[in-house]
Amino acid sequence: MTAYPYETHDYDVVVVGAGGAGLRATLGMAEQGLRTACVTKVFPTRSHTVAAQGGIAASLGNMGPDSWQWHMFDTVKGSDWLGDMDTMEYVAREAPKAVYELEHYGVPFSRTEEGKIYQRPFGGHTTEYGEGVPVQRVCAAADRTGHAMLHTLYGQSLKNNAEFFIEYFALDLIMSEDGQCQGVVAWKLDDGTMHVFNAKMTVLATGGYGRAYFNCTSAHTCTGDGGGMVARAGLPLQDMEFVQFHPTGIFGPGMLITEGARGEGGYLTNSEGERFMERYAPTFKDLASRDVVSRCMTLEIREGRGVGPNKDHIHLNLSHLPAEMLAERLPGISESAKIFAGVDVTREPIPVLPTVHYNMGGIPTNYWGEVLHPAKDDPDRVVPGLMAAGEAACASLHGANRLGANSLIDLVVLGRAASIRAGQVVDAGAANPVLNPAAIDRAFDRFDSLRHAKGDTATADLRLEMQRTMQNDAAVFRTDKSLKDGVGKMGAVAARMSDLKVTDRSLVWNSDLMETLELANLMPNALATINGAEARKESRGAHAHEDYPERDDKTWRKHTIAHVDGAKVTLSYRPVHTEPLTKHEDGGIDPKRIAPKKRVY
Ligand code: FUM
Repeated sequence: MTAYPYETHDYDVVVVGAGGAGLRATLGMAEQGLRTACVTKVFPTRSHTVAAQGGIAASLGNMGPDSWQWHMFDTVKGSDWLGDMDTMEYVAREAPKAVYELEHYGVPFSRTEEGKIYQRPFGGHTTEYGEGVPVQRVCAAADRTGHAMLHTLYGQSLKNNAEFFIEYFALDLIMSEDGQCQGVVAWKLDDGTMHVFNAKMTVLATGGYGRAYFNCTSAHTCTGDGGGMVARAGLPLQDMEFVQFHPTGIFGPGMLITEGARGEGGYLTNSEGERFMERYAPTFKDLASRDVVSRCMTLEIREGRGVGPNKDHIHLNLSHLPAEMLAERLPGISESAKIFAGVDVTREPIPVLPTVHYNMGGIPTNYWGEVLHPAKDDPDRVVPGLMAAGEAACASLHGANRLGANSLIDLVVLGRAASIRAGQVVDAGAANPVLNPAAIDRAFDRFDSLRHAKGDTATADLRLEMQRTMQNDAAVFRTDKSLKDGVGKMGAVAARMSDLKVTDRSLVWNSDLMETLELANLMPNALATINGAEARKESRGAHAHEDYPERDDKTWRKHTIAHVDGAKVTLSYRPVHTEPLTKHEDGGIDPKRIAPKKRVY
């Protein structure tokens, strides 16, 4: 056992992560008077939500007819019928309220001539249950919507006396012997001190794990830290095989070019100058859902119609759009295209390629954010004291494929829902839990063994092997062979965690150690992804399996549950929630509308 001196902090709630979900949860908790700490490894406004561009989906109907039922239908169809209906109804219904709340908190949305919130079209968002024209549902602050939201939510959280612990790296959950979460252990990066956060409720809002892949739009900080902590606590991850490739990452560096670019009239072309999406998705064309567009681009490249000297990417055309409009609505991506691709969007197409962008899977929760640990007789069993929200979580709003702009609405609606639920279950007057010392010791032991790791493998080398394996073997298209190879290779990569070498043993700003801790978090996320994918013998949403090209609802309309212990992954399944919250006769959606059918755009 390794003893590190530590300081204990008592709170009602500790939120880990300060992106959109973490800040919305923090704000909601603090507004109710709960003593709330937000622990974050980066400064709040540098969290990855800052990179969200195109907007946030809500059926405000500012630009034409829309309804929460249409939004729910589109989300169900986008999810390829793997999403949980209760979550999808809750989010679609609450979305307008949550966006108006953001407006009142001060988010500087772009405006229409009449002063309403401006909304743009995005892929997969339609009218008339998919039978009508694309809808303008995505509320935008130019193409810097996430940036605007983060700054507003951080300011509001401070105003409501939330306390921030910035540049603290959360190491592990503190679990009692009977399975209750009691808080987290954290390492303060700038002075090397250790901290124990004792809380009645812990909320994991640590973001996705895009960095398990080689080429992604995610920040370097997106290392699945919540998933890693949960796996080490013996809790499962859900639906990890569903990884979203955004159609338009800049070819090479992978920076995001918002789907809003196609929403505003941009289109994709191949080496023959053909607008090929018209062939694949005759109705919605470039505004089909992301998994569909990414697959079509990949097929074009495979069939020799990619652009560039190596015919290995696709063109996104914006130069036909008015330069003033590009400057007003898409200033951020115009700048990114210039910096990262050397392209003037008013004259030349942007070279793009499908790029890993979002993890549909994560820590299983209900729509209140309560973490689930499914049991045989209770697939919805709740872990006391533990919540998750945002991309770290899987409340199964997105099922097998997320619609663009449904991520930001997920963050605010479900971050807010977590705070509402915490307000009901946390007793602000009660004493804090008596901490389990064994759990704290285990956290320090693990930290210390990585700090003094004396093997032969550099963290960066092992990380690269993981990233290349995931990129090659769990890609846009998958086969039995690629997945079987990937499972074998990832098992071997994970086994080498015990051979890591950390050269810097210090405690202050030790980026070598921090990256090693991040790799330890990425690993269970990657393992669950490739093993879940290998087991799923069908195609659904982002899981496009060439040996099983059809969706198989009879066998596979179920959530994958993965327990990861070291390099070992054990899979089980839990049922999808097929019932919406509200019966049709009480004002809910017509069940016929959301019954499974073939998914065409
Ligand atoms: O394309 C985009 O602006 C990304 C949005 C999203 O992932 O929701």
